Amino acid sequence: MEMTKWQFRNPYHDPRQDTERTFVFGPHTLKIKQQHWDKVDLHHNTGYIVWDGAYLLARFIFERAEIQGKRCLELGAGNGLVSIVAHYRGAKNVAATDMSEYLNFLRYNIAQNVSSEQQSSIDVYELLWGTTTNINPVDVVLGSEILYLSEQHEGLIKTLQQLMHAQSVAYFIYKERRLNEHQFTQMANSNGFTVREIPKSALDAEFADEPYHLLKVTKKN
Ligand SMILES: C[S@@+](CC[C@H](N)C(=O)[O-])C[C@H]1O[C@@H](n2cnc3c(N)ncnc32)[C@H](O)[C@@H]1O
Repeated sequence: MEMTKWQFRNPYHDPRQDTERTFVFGPHTLKIKQQHWDKVDLHHNTGYIVWDGAYLLARFIFERAEIQGKRCLELGAGNGLVSIVAHYRGAKNVAATDMSEYLNFLRYNIAQNVSSEQQSSIDVYELLWGTTTNINPVDVVLGSEILYLSEQHEGLIKTLQQLMHAQSVAYFIYKERRLNEHQFTQMANSNGFTVREIPKSALDAEFADEPYHLLKVTKKN
């Protein structure tokens, strides 16, 4: 029997409409639930589907980032794909965070994809950007498609100041949508961080023609 390699893209189908999506990372096959709402805009219900950026960031950390043994935290985790893949990749523990309305959805996807014995290494927390958190600093912060609201950049930077120690690294992916996403880089650079763009060759080649940017953020010493 001929086997077809799993690919992200299927030109005959829009996977964003599915109630469940399948992703393959090495030996792991993930099932991620999506929930559809009548109202989806920049401010509502954005976390209930898997954005392509989440897949790209998950693929990057699975294949290229140093995650093993690290304490990781995802901001705006929504569907949980990136957090679950960080766990698969050997993170010591993962904090999947978002606004309170998404937390049950996140818990559901984690429970579907992580065995009950392993579930204690992924915690779900409410974390609103810019507010004080009592989560301790972590080694790796992850964020997919969370830079599209430029009015939130200041809050995100405050959150990074609380969550990152001197050696922490943050990876953010975004698609350029002309919503001033790039202002995040300038603001972070002026507030104690160094932002470097990772070459596009590090991303899944299926997306070579799309305007995705992967940023690596560190603290200035
Ligand atoms: C476009 S979705 C991306 C979801 C997921 N990371 C992905 O790429 O599939 C943006 C996410 O950021 C979260 N978010 C937006 N504003 C936020 C805020 N002020 N504090 C915390 N989370 C926020 C949303 O709830 C949502 O889950």
